[in-house]
Amino acid sequence: MAKQRHQYVCQQCGYVSRKWYGRCPDCQKFNSLIEEIAPVNHSSDSQRRGIAISSNKPQSIAAITASDEDRLRTNISELDRVLGGGLVPGSVVLIGGDPGIGKSTLLLQMCSQLSETHSSVLYVSGEESAPQTKLRANRLDINSDSLYVLCENNYEQIESHISALNPQVVVVDSIQTIYLAKIQSAPGSVTQLRECTGHLLLLAKSKNIPIILVGHVTKEGALAGPKILEHMVDTVLYFEGEQQQLYRVLRAVKNRFGSTNEIGVFEMVANGLSEIKNPSELFIENRQENSSGSVIVSSVEGSRPLLLELQALVSPSNLGIPRNTTTGVDRHRIALLVAVLQKRVGFSIGDSDVFVNVTGGMRLNERGIDLGLALAIASSHREKPIDSATVVLGEVGLGGEVRPVSHIEKRLQESQKLGFTRVIFPKFNRKGMKVLDGIELIGVSDLYEALGVVF
Ligand code: TYD
Ligand code: MG
Repeated sequence: MAKQRHQYVCQQCGYVSRKWYGRCPDCQKFNSLIEEIAPVNHSSDSQRRGIAISSNKPQSIAAITASDEDRLRTNISELDRVLGGGLVPGSVVLIGGDPGIGKSTLLLQMCSQLSETHSSVLYVSGEESAPQTKLRANRLDINSDSLYVLCENNYEQIESHISALNPQVVVVDSIQTIYLAKIQSAPGSVTQLRECTGHLLLLAKSKNIPIILVGHVTKEGALAGPKILEHMVDTVLYFEGEQQQLYRVLRAVKNRFGSTNEIGVFEMVANGLSEIKNPSELFIENRQENSSGSVIVSSVEGSRPLLLELQALVSPSNLGIPRNTTTGVDRHRIALLVAVLQKRVGFSIGDSDVFVNVTGGMRLNERGIDLGLALAIASSHREKPIDSATVVLGEVGLGGEVRPVSHIEKRLQESQKLGFTRVIFPKFNRKGMKVLDGIELIGVSDLYEALGVVF
């Protein structure tokens, strides 16, 4: 028997070395090199990763046929939207998220939907036994003859079952539990992850079926395993949300076949995940009217506008150094807005603690909510509530000027739909803007003017 060769692989970036280093020479992370047994035959199939399965010839792009009709619709419209209109045959999708967030639930529900229109759908579980999956299915009220469950960790076995069954869609839950027997390192190690994903990519392309992989995340929230995994697959989705909150947001971070701005919103209920078609209603539902520090803003995620409530609390600091504590928005943005409020409009809040919260557990990194944040902070500082039928839009510059936002029409329509009667927006956006029934539109050019309108 050939002598085993050992190698050291960085668990963060996948760097391979014969020698051990305390710090990865490539990504510079400390203590990330772990000893693994090198694959026996390095020029295996997965080394030829990519889509060149047969000898392809160059062809004119005009002669290639492809249409959006080929996409497999999952009939879960929130999921379809994030995928860019459905699953693309031959593609590999990776879904990551915290444990218990609902990845297995979502995918089992997706398989059930697909099995209604397709003759066979395969759910491979490397984490749960068949009876455990059945218990989950019972809870979700899933019982379909064409949904097959395979509890297996060995890649070669999985591949032979796929060849025999010929399913139209395959789910692998999770990629960290699958191993190739010819590679001796443990499941979940960088070498196994890379090789198994490479084999699954080839399989998806050669059979022209979509394969969905579940990926674990590290405690920092990134997908576990080397970054190369995210480069290899076609689409990377994150399923996120607070454990305590009922709703979950599905977000695309990479999509070769669609936009990465789209989000899907779900709610975890007793019998699985249910879609939330109108998230704005839910996000502002429990709002306490006429309380200081609360402002409604509109943020556009992909093609969809969302209305959300921002809450701010300004209180004198008990410590020498004031703190900014935020959930859902960037702390540095708050520090900037506090400085602008202080310098440009003379608010003395530099030595106060500022707490900011986006209700509903959403994360926002859009600049269009700046003005809303600034007004929420101002409202809390002055202890004066802002009229609860008002929506605030606009980016704030360092000079205190209010800058234009994108998709103004969509934001206004959503505000009108949900019964808001006043919108404060950047004056720059006025050009070509349509008048909407029942909404008073107030254009402002700087923070000072906006404060004059609300107080
Ligand atoms: P799960 O899909 O197992 O999460 P993941 O695969 O991402 O680890 O989801 C498990 C959580 O969802 C668990 O805390 C229980 C909850 N849940 C419900 O509330 N309702 C349901 O119908 C199901 C199946 C799960
Ligand atoms: Mg799971």
